[in-house]
Amino acid sequence: MSKKIFVTGPFGQIGSELVPELQERHGKENVVALGHSYIPEDYDGPLEQGDVRDEDFMNELWEKYEFDEVYHLASILSATGEKKPDLAWDVNMDGLKAILDLARDHDNRVFWASSIAVFGPNTPMDNTPQHTILEPVTMYGVTKVSGELLCQYYHEKYGLDVRGLRYPGLISWKEKPGGGTTDYSVEMFYKAIKGEDYTCFVREDTRLPMMYMEDAIRGTLQLMDADDESIDIRTSYNHSALNFEAKELEEEIKKYYPDFEVEYKPDERQKTADSWPNSVDDSKAREDWDWQPKYDLEKMTEVMIENLEKKLGV
Ligand code: SER
Repeated sequence: MSKKIFVTGPFGQIGSELVPELQERHGKENVVALGHSYIPEDYDGPLEQGDVRDEDFMNELWEKYEFDEVYHLASILSATGEKKPDLAWDVNMDGLKAILDLARDHDNRVFWASSIAVFGPNTPMDNTPQHTILEPVTMYGVTKVSGELLCQYYHEKYGLDVRGLRYPGLISWKEKPGGGTTDYSVEMFYKAIKGEDYTCFVREDTRLPMMYMEDAIRGTLQLMDADDESIDIRTSYNHSALNFEAKELEEEIKKYYPDFEVEYKPDERQKTADSWPNSVDDSKAREDWDWQPKYDLEKMTEVMIENLEKKLGV
């Protein structure tokens, strides 16, 4: 019997690539997308529009579709969260709580997106362990730590099968990220391919953990496919692939676009970037459900440029 899947944030950077994979696996008719403000005109599949915090609306959806599995991706990211901390708390926390309550009451499985933003300036910066100091300095990070603990609580208290990943900065060409601190890595590609210079909002020696989207999607599905007994972590798993200083990405892109120029003018997002790790130890994900990334800096850059050139008609 095919499963009914519910996806929040289906048209964001992750959702726009996860949804087609879910449609492929479960059938288009079985993947229900919950749009909020932005809905692509050409979206093909069952579609609802509303707010996950609207209790009556959400109850109606569960009655209408009888979901089996939820991918809760809707979230306010770090940079937007610093501009609108109240909104970030409301959307990220009330939204997650609503999903967890519904999932518990209907015996659904849940995937939830956490982030390297759970870490903070007191966390060991290199090869950051799974279990470590979590004292984030952004509202986004505060909601991700709180969310992780809430997920674990629902697992312990109610037996809810909830699984999550601490995604690093995600690099992709289909849909742009919105309002994050790691967005410069994607912006750099767009500018280089358009033949424009780029003003980067972090210092050139800023090193952050990153991942090509195809790895992130594969990891997400692998985590959800794993046997219940092998899932040891119910907060969220460290999830890692590559890391680079901003300058290293510039240099890698310059192999394809030698005239590309980047000026580094750090703004308020630098503080957030400085509070996040240089690299993350994801050995727990590797042990528990065989996580293995495929893209390093060179390969990621190659596929990004190839696909963005096609997309932008260069
Ligand atoms: N990419 C996210 C951000 O920068 C990290 O989870 O906010």
